[in-house]
Amino acid sequence: MDKPFASRLIAWQRRYGRHDLPWQQSRDPYAIWLSEIMLQQTQVETVIPYYRRFLDRLPDIAALAAASEDAVLALWSGLGYYSRARHLHRAAKIIVQDFGGVFPREFDRIMCLPGIGRSTAAAIAAFAFGERRAILDGNVKRVVCRLFGVEGWPGEKAVEGRLWTLAEDLLPEREIDVYTQGLMDLGATLCRRSRPDCAACPFSDDCVAKREGRQGELPAARPR
Ligand code: ADE
Repeated sequence: MDKPFASRLIAWQRRYGRHDLPWQQSRDPYAIWLSEIMLQQTQVETVIPYYRRFLDRLPDIAALAAASEDAVLALWSGLGYYSRARHLHRAAKIIVQDFGGVFPREFDRIMCLPGIGRSTAAAIAAFAFGERRAILDGNVKRVVCRLFGVEGWPGEKAVEGRLWTLAEDLLPEREIDVYTQGLMDLGATLCRRSRPDCAACPFSDDCVAKREGRQGELPAARPR
């Protein structure tokens, strides 16, 4: 299955995906960056009030860079994984010092910032700049493993490399923002870890895991 995947996912996202998340109302790279960092380890519903309050108090990169670490951590208090807040703060200072306070557009520069890995950089590039980049977070790994019947633990380098290649091959030529959100929403709402809703999935006829009844086995668990 090649490009039909992208067009079907985009159609699904337009009809059934989430469209009212607060960060979807913005193209400001700072707001999108903040949302992606908060969403790395925290559920959408938990993130929303923190995201709103953080942006309200520190509305731009300059404000974040000028804030004290204590003030930043206080805004993060309750979200957990506090290294995310420290990295965010450090990255804002780097952006002010090295990039004149403007969030970088170049992918490699985004990815070099503290706290931003390849998948988060890709999400920011897609949502803020419409750049055609593949994401591969935990949800997307699960979707791709099941769809293609990828064997092995995704934490293993060779398996992860295969997943990145597949994720890149699936990318659409346009509407990368809708596509990227669709992939996240499919993984979060239908292709759940347990009890996936295959009956509602637009890809159930093409899915290796569904065909073989192996949704519970894919992706494979960490070997022990
Ligand atoms: N998880 C990571 N990024 C997300 C986003 N932009 N929307 C919803 N869930 C996400």
